[in-house]
Amino acid sequence: MSTTLSIRRPDDWHLHLRDGAMLEGVLPETARHFARAIIMPNLVPPVVTGDDAAAYRDRIMAALPEGMSFEPLMTLYLTEATDPADVAAAHAAGLIHAVKLYPAGATTNSASGVRDLARVTPVLEKMAEIGLPLCIHGEVTSPEVDIFDREQVFLETVLDPLRRRIPDLKVTLEHITTSQGIDYVAGASGDIAGTITTHHLMINRNHILVGGIRPHYYCLPVAKRSTHQQALRKAAISGNPRFFLGTDSAPHTDPNKESACGCAGVFSATNTLSCLAHVFEEEGALDKLEGFASLFGPARYGLPPNDVRITLEKRDTPVAYPPKVETGAGPVTLFDPGHPLHWHVLD
Ligand code: NCD
Ligand code: ZN
Repeated sequence: MSTTLSIRRPDDWHLHLRDGAMLEGVLPETARHFARAIIMPNLVPPVVTGDDAAAYRDRIMAALPEGMSFEPLMTLYLTEATDPADVAAAHAAGLIHAVKLYPAGATTNSASGVRDLARVTPVLEKMAEIGLPLCIHGEVTSPEVDIFDREQVFLETVLDPLRRRIPDLKVTLEHITTSQGIDYVAGASGDIAGTITTHHLMINRNHILVGGIRPHYYCLPVAKRSTHQQALRKAAISGNPRFFLGTDSAPHTDPNKESACGCAGVFSATNTLSCLAHVFEEEGALDKLEGFASLFGPARYGLPPNDVRITLEKRDTPVAYPPKVETGAGPVTLFDPGHPLHWHVLD
């Protein structure tokens, strides 16, 4: 038995490519299936100026293997020293497509993030004026807030007040993990959207903790209980253009994951499309996959959808994805959905 599905070539609206040997190792994994991606700026040191973004874009293009095509959509890392004029110039030059807000200390390489939002108001006002989206890692960092509540508390205490202060700011709430996040994005007035990762559609917190601790399922925001996972699935298949794919594929080497203090990040670039087809088929919504993966993101970012199409084919034989990608920086374990994947991406 085989079934096929043809969709426009997808894009990834939240991706970590890193730099150097890791970039070289993981870039082909994304470029094989995706035309474009919003590139996260949390390098060490972070990508903070237009010049940094131009140099990083050049390094990405230099790492792209011959014969592959891929367009990196660059972002800047918002710091309390970010210059609104530099942001506006980088946007006017077509170089950057978003600015990323990491609350300081929220996740991997976020030490230079924002401690006091009041200090970045001039940048945010400039972004609202020029229509440049703010991508937000939506978690509070206060030690007294439980890690499973950090997204929900962020919505109430940071995001909603911020959007009331600067109502014209275009906001993307990234890697939503809670039903509250979904409800907020679906119900809010104004210009807001949200991305959903592949892995948060497929795992909940039991997968991380039951029967032994699974470091390769640990990421931030951490996966929540199953009712939240169900809310994410419902949003992804809803056909609501406010929700689209951002894989948050975030490679770390195995020694850095399989450690007494393992890094946060799930690497899913390689098998994301097979995973998504599996999820959307389970939900009886294969017809909604193209909107989620290929149409709503470009519309949100004011870009045309890709002309090229890709074909997915469901076969009896599962896809043989390698368990790890070997990079010059070390091995990186691929997201394991816990069951075989039968949707093959045809080249
Ligand atoms: C990301 C990383 O490793 O850079 N990790 C993660 O768990 N998602 C950072 C981030 O997007 O939070
Ligand atoms: Zn991320």
